[in-house]
Amino acid sequence: MTSSFYPPRRTLMGPGPSDVSPRVLGALGRPTIGHLDPQFVHLMDEIKALLQFAFRTENTLTLPISAPGSAGMEACFVNLVSPGDTVIVCQNGVFGGRMRENVERCGATAIMVQDAWGDPVCPDKVAAAFAANPEANLLAFVHAETSTGAASDAAALCALATANDALSIVDTVTSLGGIPVNVDEWGADAVYSGTQKCLSCIPGISPVTFSPRAVERIQKRSRPVQSWFLDMQLIMGYWGGSSKRAYHHTAPVNNLYALHEALLMLQEEGLEDSWARHHRNHLALSAGLEAMGLAMAVAADYRLPQLNSVRIPPGVDDAAVRGALLADFDLEIGAGLGELAGTTWRIGLMGHASSECNVLRCLNALEATLADQGAEVGRGLAMQAARAVYAGA
Ligand SMILES: Cc1ncc(COP(=O)(O)O)c(C=O)c1O
Repeated sequence: MTSSFYPPRRTLMGPGPSDVSPRVLGALGRPTIGHLDPQFVHLMDEIKALLQFAFRTENTLTLPISAPGSAGMEACFVNLVSPGDTVIVCQNGVFGGRMRENVERCGATAIMVQDAWGDPVCPDKVAAAFAANPEANLLAFVHAETSTGAASDAAALCALATANDALSIVDTVTSLGGIPVNVDEWGADAVYSGTQKCLSCIPGISPVTFSPRAVERIQKRSRPVQSWFLDMQLIMGYWGGSSKRAYHHTAPVNNLYALHEALLMLQEEGLEDSWARHHRNHLALSAGLEAMGLAMAVAADYRLPQLNSVRIPPGVDDAAVRGALLADFDLEIGAGLGELAGTTWRIGLMGHASSECNVLRCLNALEATLADQGAEVGRGLAMQAARAVYAGA
């Protein structure tokens, strides 16, 4: 007979979702109120202010889309791209490919700037693409490529867009809260994120922010946005600044309690302290993995602290290791994605899951599992190396 679902208690160290803190889960369970209740409208205002803090922006149009990161991505494209436009799209992993699909589905032309998976986006190639396509009016790139674990230089790329009189769309799904995201300092125009990574909130919400230049382009559109649900002009009627809020869709009320709590926790910790925590845990994890004899897949300069790609040692059965980690240790790590499937693991240290305890737990579990598989691992070395990092920090 079908009965209530009680999930196992896992430690989530994959590419997301990450562990949600008990405080956030507690907020989720509070009584549902109406989505136009004055108390809820007050909460919406606080969420907007907290998102401005997290994105480091004064953009008025800053709010959570009631759907996952992919919807935030789509909201940016459908509102800013019109049929016939030319858009420069950078691809150095899976998610740049999705940007291309968005551009083409909007009836525009995507000029692709390709970099190897695991490398950052090359600003020189982007400059060359602008020179060859002066009609391009938009640049789109992923700040933190979750499929590879590489970070790109968002400040340099946004500056190139501005210098070429183009707007920028920046994917910060994996970066927000884990590494610096400076929307105003970068001069970024449309930025979207997700709640299930370094914000450690439940999946299914996508924070977005639009600069005044982006809002102007949206307002000047000659044809309506093809998506009714993601049309920012309509969404503004519900989330906008006026006290008269019009019904657009029924907001996911309890999910927004959770987002409010997660953002409050980020504010309490402080952005810089959160970035420093992610960095410290990454250094300890990578030192441990390397001491064990594993090789990191991304060059040290571009590594994302929250998403550690590591090469699977030859002869080791990828799925068997991940299966054993889940079965024996309740520990989830991620498989490689796209081009990197079967050759790398992705170990997340995101938000609430980015802790010393999880680093040590993961190193221990991986070492034992690899040894069971007959892989040559230096026993005890990983723990020693990770602890040395913490001792020196
Ligand atoms: C960089 C990046 N962009 C977009 C997405 C899509 O987000 P979601 O799965 O919440 O739709 C993800 C999800 O992992 C991502 O990592």
